[in-house]
Amino acid sequence: MKIVVPGGSGQVGAVLARSFAPAGHEVVVLSRSGKAPPGARGVAWDGRTAGPWAVELDGADVVINLAGRSVDCRYGEVNRREIMDSRVDSTHAVGEAIAEASAPPGTWLQMSTATIYAHRFDAPNDERTGILGGDEPDAPDTWRFSIDVARAWERAALDAPLPSRTRLVLLRSAMVMSPDRGGVFDTLLRLVRLRLGGAAAGGRQYLSWVHQEDFTRAIGWLVEHEDVTGAVNLASPHPLPHRDFMRTLREAWGTRVGLPATRPMLELGALLLRTETELVLKSRRVTPGVLTEGGFAFEHPTWPAAARDLVRAWRAGTA
Ligand SMILES: NC(=O)c1ccc[n+]([C@@H]2O[C@H](COP(=O)([O-])OP(=O)(O)OC[C@H]3O[C@@H](n4cnc5c(N)ncnc54)[C@H](OP(=O)(O)O)[C@@H]3O)[C@@H](O)[C@H]2O)c1
Repeated sequence: MKIVVPGGSGQVGAVLARSFAPAGHEVVVLSRSGKAPPGARGVAWDGRTAGPWAVELDGADVVINLAGRSVDCRYGEVNRREIMDSRVDSTHAVGEAIAEASAPPGTWLQMSTATIYAHRFDAPNDERTGILGGDEPDAPDTWRFSIDVARAWERAALDAPLPSRTRLVLLRSAMVMSPDRGGVFDTLLRLVRLRLGGAAAGGRQYLSWVHQEDFTRAIGWLVEHEDVTGAVNLASPHPLPHRDFMRTLREAWGTRVGLPATRPMLELGALLLRTETELVLKSRRVTPGVLTEGGFAFEHPTWPAAARDLVRAWRAGTA
């Protein structure tokens, strides 16, 4: 297959290239600087407007659009605009390129986020019964902003004038756990290594995650299952409360000590690290209804075994 990955120069793009290129697929990454992870060919685009890059989509089999400014920052006015516009504008550009292709790709997998669901503890959110967020009475303004972004991102894809042969799937992905330096697992493990990986604000909030291997296997499964369209949750079937998630990660690393953090400590830490507490305080309880009902079998369904596997790979320096 020819797989085109706009925004594939980051962590998730590296995970995809590492899996699909050695299997003999051609992986093309669209990047503003033209850079690409090992195994992929980089092509320059501006992430906003039509350009020569569009020929890469013409005749491709699959497009996986990941482009978007990192959400790991303070949500001030400028960053908010960049977070929103980089996702909506790039998705419009990809949709237009597909619409104008003479041989449009059969599958468009558009990144979204598990953050689109409501902050809740009572029940998991699958695609059918899950509650979209934004109306929680006590949700901080930053949480509502993230949901506005997720909805606008999905809307931009759904509004694209797609040819009938192109199928659109919205990837509501949980945190993708890979041993890459600078990725989300590396960040959480750093807290554990510094003995700071205790419960955050009590740790009752759920954390949804997916192992990199199941993420790429699920992508392959979605490409093969041509009957699947619309929103699909990419998350392990067993999200768990933050305090249990971090305790398990401490055990996998081999330390018992993990300093807990109160909400004010987290607010101060987030300010110093130029990030937002939403990433740790919002309860993300998301489960993979479409995948499990469709017969997809997770290789790393539970966190204890997945955490041990990731720690082993992190220590070996193999991503
Ligand atoms: N990592 C996760 O666990 C996770 C989970 C759920 C959803 N997501 C979403 O999946 C996508 C990929 O995640 P990631 O962790 O790989 O992110 P990442 O490492 O930050 O990579 C995102 C890519 O988007 C491109 N980008 C940044 N700003 C842009 C802009 N203004 N216009 C166009 N492109 C821009 C960048 O490519 P260039 O600078 O090369 O152009 C960058 O490589 C993101 O949209 C993220 O929100 C990630």
